[in-house]
Amino acid sequence: MKFFVDSADVAAIAELNELGMVDGVTTNPSLILKSGRDITEVTREICELVDGPVSAEVVATEADAMITEGRKLAGIAPNITVKLPLTWDGLKACKVLTGEGKMVNVTLCFSVTQALLAAKAGASFISPFIGRLDDINLDGVELIGDIRQVYDNYGFETEILAASVRSVNHVADVARIGADVMTAPPEVIHKLALHPLTDAGLAKFLSDWEKTGQKIV
Ligand code: E4P
Repeated sequence: MKFFVDSADVAAIAELNELGMVDGVTTNPSLILKSGRDITEVTREICELVDGPVSAEVVATEADAMITEGRKLAGIAPNITVKLPLTWDGLKACKVLTGEGKMVNVTLCFSVTQALLAAKAGASFISPFIGRLDDINLDGVELIGDIRQVYDNYGFETEILAASVRSVNHVADVARIGADVMTAPPEVIHKLALHPLTDAGLAKFLSDWEKTGQKIV
């Protein structure tokens, strides 16, 4: 499963990138706001840093304006993925932009039928938001499984990008169920390495080692 970082924080992305943990990046208007940066500047910096796809989201709501914004965003760097909302206008823009050879990530997906439409419109990625479904007592992980089954039934090549990932369990669940990609905030990716038994085991090994009086030289 590929790891995307869901952030517009260049330092946090760079830190994970040095560890080889970054296959791509996703941003959205809320993350640009949080960064306090200009969208073009920060997106360009991220694209220079990371080899994989970097999603940058349009804010227009009408297809022609989305296409204009999408072309502008795609001009920032060759690894830009234009992010479009799952509306009929977004799907129309998806068809046009993918027809021009641009990568498109269709976002704000909350149902299997929406995911089916995105695949038919040629999306490179579909972003089902699992945390936001869990927030309203629906099962976000189950949606990833349903989309996996439908895409596999018909051989759609659109990659399933599990988004709105909030926890270590979300990452494990979507990996088990066959998501192609997951995008998570840097804090969640850092937590993937943590386990209390690892800490306890290491403390015991170190205290026993101390008692041997030895050194590794
Ligand atoms: C990524 O593409 C999404 O915009 C992001 O994962 C949404 O996450 P949130 O629901 O935690 O805001």
